Amino acid sequence: MAQTFEEISAADFFYRNRDIAGFTNPARAVFSSMRELVENALDASDLYSVSPDIYIRLSQEDEAEPDEIAVYTLRIEDNGSGIPPRHIPSAFGQVLFGSKYKLKQARGTFGLGGTMAILYGQITTHKPVYVASSTGTSKIYKYKLMIDIQRNRPLILDRKIQINKDKWRGTIVEFCLEGDYFRAMPKILEYLKQTALVTPYANITFIDPKGRLYKFTRVTTKMPPPPKETLPHPYGVDVETIQRLIRITPCRNMLDFMKTHFHRVGENIAHHFLEFAGISERKNPKKLKPHEIVRLVRMIKRFKGFLPPDASCLSPLGEELLKAGILKELKPEFTAVFQRKPSTYSGHPFIVETAIVYGGDVPKDDFPVYRFANRIPLLYDEASDVSVKVIRSINWRRYKVLPDMPIAILVHVCSTKVPYKTVGKEFIADRPEVKREILNGIREVARQLQRFLTKREHVEKERRRLSVFSKYLPKIARFSTELAGKEKTPDIKKLLRTVRKLEEEKK
Ligand SMILES: Nc1ncnc2c1ncn2[C@@H]1O[C@H](COP(=O)(O)OP(=O)(O)OP(=O)(O)O)[C@@H](O)[C@H]1O
Ligand SMILES: [Mg+2]
Repeated sequence: MAQTFEEISAADFFYRNRDIAGFTNPARAVFSSMRELVENALDASDLYSVSPDIYIRLSQEDEAEPDEIAVYTLRIEDNGSGIPPRHIPSAFGQVLFGSKYKLKQARGTFGLGGTMAILYGQITTHKPVYVASSTGTSKIYKYKLMIDIQRNRPLILDRKIQINKDKWRGTIVEFCLEGDYFRAMPKILEYLKQTALVTPYANITFIDPKGRLYKFTRVTTKMPPPPKETLPHPYGVDVETIQRLIRITPCRNMLDFMKTHFHRVGENIAHHFLEFAGISERKNPKKLKPHEIVRLVRMIKRFKGFLPPDASCLSPLGEELLKAGILKELKPEFTAVFQRKPSTYSGHPFIVETAIVYGGDVPKDDFPVYRFANRIPLLYDEASDVSVKVIRSINWRRYKVLPDMPIAILVHVCSTKVPYKTVGKEFIADRPEVKREILNGIREVARQLQRFLTKREHVEKERRRLSVFSKYLPKIARFSTELAGKEKTPDIKKLLRTVRKLEEEKK
C-alpha cells in the first residue's frame, strides 16, 4: 500500500499531543486552564506595573455527580495591559502566537498556554470563547471566537465595540470546558496559595463551582522592578541567530554589527574580539559566506573577553517581597531568604532565590518544597525537578534538621529562558550552572536555620533549667529554714528573677 504524507498545523499538533502541554485528563485540564489564564493575567499587569486584581470564577454548567466529569465555565478578569484589538483573535485563536518571544523575563514563553486551554474547551464542549479587552482607550472590544484547528487560525464569530465610559483597562476571558474540578481542587487551591505567596502584591479572588469564595489579599503594593528587554548574549548565539541578524542588520561593517546586536559588547570588546577572530572590522556582515558564519560562531564561543550578562532583563521577587509573601501565606516562626547574584547558563542570565521556613502553617512531616520559575508555582513532577534533586543530596543533619521538623524550602529560579523540560512548565532541567546556584542558595538559608535551631535548643535548655529551679527552690528554701531553726523563709522570688534576667541577657 502506498504511504500517504500530510502536513499538520501547530494547533493540530497540540490537539493530538495535548499531554505535553499539561492537558492529560479532565482534572489536570481544569488545573492547567486556570493556571495558564492566571499567568497571562499576571503577566499583563506586570507590563504596566499595576497591582493585579484578578477575579476567577469556575461554575458548573450541568448536573453531574460530584465524582463525575462535568462541563464548567471558566471566567477570568484582570486589570492588566489589555490587548490591542487587532491581536485579540490570534492571541486566543492561534497557537504559537504571542507577545512574549522577547529576551526578558515573563511567565509566558511559548505563545501556547492560554490558547491551549481554549482549544481544550472547544474540543470537549464545542463552544466558543468570549473575550473582552481594552487597552484603556475609549473603546472595549468584544469577540466571540473559535479556533480552526486544522489551519491554526482564529474564526471570528462575532465582534462588538462598546464605549469605555470608565476608561477600564484589562481583559476578560470566558469559555466552557470539560473537567473534573473535585479531583483538581487540592492542586488548584495549592496553586492559588503559592501564587499568592510569590505575588504578595496581588489581589486574587476565586469562586469555585460550589460558590465557595477564596480570597488572597495583597499585603503590599510594591512590585518588583519590571524587566528590560535585552539583546542576545554572544555566548548564547548559534549559526541560525547570526544569520537572522545578518538578514535584518542595517550595519555595514562587522565592528558596528558586533556592537549593535549583542548584549554588553562595546567598541573595545568588539575590537578585541574581531582581532582575536581574525575578521576585518570593516567587513560587511552581509558578505559573510556560510563557512565564515560557522567560524564566527566558533570564535565567539572561544573568546574569553565577553562580559557576563547583566540582570536588568530579569525581575526576581527580591528578599523583602519574598519574605512578605511567605509571612502572609505560611505564617512561620522563622524565615530566612536569600537572593544569589546573577549567573548564566549557555548565555542565558538567571537568578536563584531561596528561602527556608520553620513552624507556623508548615506541615510537620513531609518537608515540602515550594518550587517557582519566573514567579510561577510548579506543582507537578516534583521528583524530576532540579531543586528537589539538590535538596535530597544535602546532608540535613549537618544543619540540625530532623525529619519530623515543620520545615519547608522554597526555590525560585528566574531567567529569560527557564530550562523547562516540557511545554507544560512543570519542572526544571538540571543544568549544572543552575544546580550549583540552587545548592549554594539553599546552603545559605540552611546555615541561617541552623543558627536559629541552635539558639532555640539553647533557650529550651535554659527554660527547662529555670523550671527546675522554680520547682525546687521554694522547697529547698523551706527545708533549709526549718533546718536552721528560723521562722521566716528567705524571698526566693528575687533570686529567680535574677536567674531569669541572666538568661534573657544570654539570648
Ligand atoms: N490577560 C491577558 N492580557 C493581555 N494579554 C494577554 C492576556 N492573555 C493573553 N494575552 C496575549 O496573548 C498571547 C498568547 O497567550 P498564551 O498564553 O497563548 O501564550 P504566552 O503567554 O505568550 O506563552 P505561554 O504559552 O508560555 O503561556 C500572549 O503572549 C499575550 O500577548
Ligand atoms: Mg500564557
